[in-house]
Amino acid sequence: MSKVEQDVETEEVENVRVFVRLRPLNKKEIEANYTNIATVDLLNGIVSVKNPVGYSHEPPKTFTFDTVFDSDSKQLDIYNETARPIVDKVLLGFNGTIFAYGQTGTGKTFTMEGVNNVPELKGIIPNSFAHIFGHIAKADESVKFLVRVSYFEIYNEEIRDLLSKNKDQCLEVKERPDIGVYVKDLSAYIANNADDMEKIMALGNKNRSVGATAMNEVSSRSHAIFSIIIETSSYSFENAKTQHVKMGRLHLVDLAGSERQSKTGASGQRLKEASKINLSLSTLGNVISALVDGKCTHIPYRNSKLTRILQDSLGGNSKTVMCATVGPASYNYEETISTLRYASRVKNICNKARVNQDPKDALLMKYQKEILELKRKLEEAANEEPPPPDILDEEPQPESDEPEIEKVEDEHDEELKRAQSDHQLMVEKLELLQKKVLVGG
Ligand SMILES: Nc1ncnc2c1ncn2[C@@H]1O[C@H](COP(=O)(O)OP(=O)(O)OP(=O)(O)O)[C@@H](O)[C@H]1O
Ligand SMILES: [Mg+2]
Repeated sequence: MSKVEQDVETEEVENVRVFVRLRPLNKKEIEANYTNIATVDLLNGIVSVKNPVGYSHEPPKTFTFDTVFDSDSKQLDIYNETARPIVDKVLLGFNGTIFAYGQTGTGKTFTMEGVNNVPELKGIIPNSFAHIFGHIAKADESVKFLVRVSYFEIYNEEIRDLLSKNKDQCLEVKERPDIGVYVKDLSAYIANNADDMEKIMALGNKNRSVGATAMNEVSSRSHAIFSIIIETSSYSFENAKTQHVKMGRLHLVDLAGSERQSKTGASGQRLKEASKINLSLSTLGNVISALVDGKCTHIPYRNSKLTRILQDSLGGNSKTVMCATVGPASYNYEETISTLRYASRVKNICNKARVNQDPKDALLMKYQKEILELKRKLEEAANEEPPPPDILDEEPQPESDEPEIEKVEDEHDEELKRAQSDHQLMVEKLELLQKKVLVGG
């Protein structure tokens, strides 16, 4: 079978899946006596929203989605029903995206991150860690894995590496025909277990731009993208000596929320942030509209950093799920309807995902080759003939030769030290590489 035929065979065409999560009324909303205007029909995936100022006989507006979750929903159920199928695909070498969209304060960060020190409140991102490393632990020992993580935010239309020491440096979005859109100079960390991932996430979260507004004390002021790249190498069926690498990329996206200045009370820096947030969300909306229009030949991905980065996730090579979060309070009727309309349009986006087979930017094969080469060199060194008798062990030379002997001794010592340190370096490098490559089982 030719390579092209293989690629076509592994291509999966499907629409972006959309689910809606309703959060409970919060304390402030209860104290202000706001009524609950949204209800969900869990069985049929329907959200109904009643207009609080409409005529009493006005029927509620209804929207149907792949799945809906009410205010009692559990974080783990959300993970299992929405994120697990995507992560399973990423483990097979597909690209996957899970992104949360919605009005400020409706639970995007709660859904994606959750509360980390309370196990049952952990969100989609930390729940994916246990899933990924659980899969590796169950795999055959002939299968090797490499898991690396990047974390960045788009703040005021600038990309900042959340894992870098130099947080204020702005990074650029680039594109290459062989690997597609990527962020140049973005740091990546190799993770060996779920604990590593948690530490990396916590480090990034500390650097994320968060600020208080009248609608959310912990409002995200940036779009954050937590990316996990999973490479898997295994021997091909046709040829037991040939190894292939599959590379799955998972983007876990916690968007900043849409907001109205009159409600958030944003001013100064918060207002500047809000205008950039709303601008990039409306560009995202334009991309979505263009994608589902059918007649549009130009999709304006290039109009914002967010849409460029999500280019594959929306209408491209990715399995994608969107989580639309809504609040049920009457004073947010307009925003709730707007989020549900936005989410309804996303359901019509068609993606074509395929397995990333032997991609150019894979590291696993490179590391495995280096491991073999280092092992070979170390073995060679161990089997080498013992060195000729040391010149220093020989009988003392006549006095006139003394300077010459000293020189040889210096050189010999240097050489020995170099050989020892080369050997040590090789051993250390081998250990380091072996630690990076995870063995199934
Ligand atoms: N389903 C939920 N159950 C309980 N509490 C929730 C739920 N969703 C959100 N919250 C709480 O509501 C507050 C706002 O949620 P969160 O910060 O996740 O909103 P957001 O959509 O990320 O807002 P922003 O766009 O401003 O970042 C938080 O204190 C969060 O813990
Ligand atoms: Mg948030």
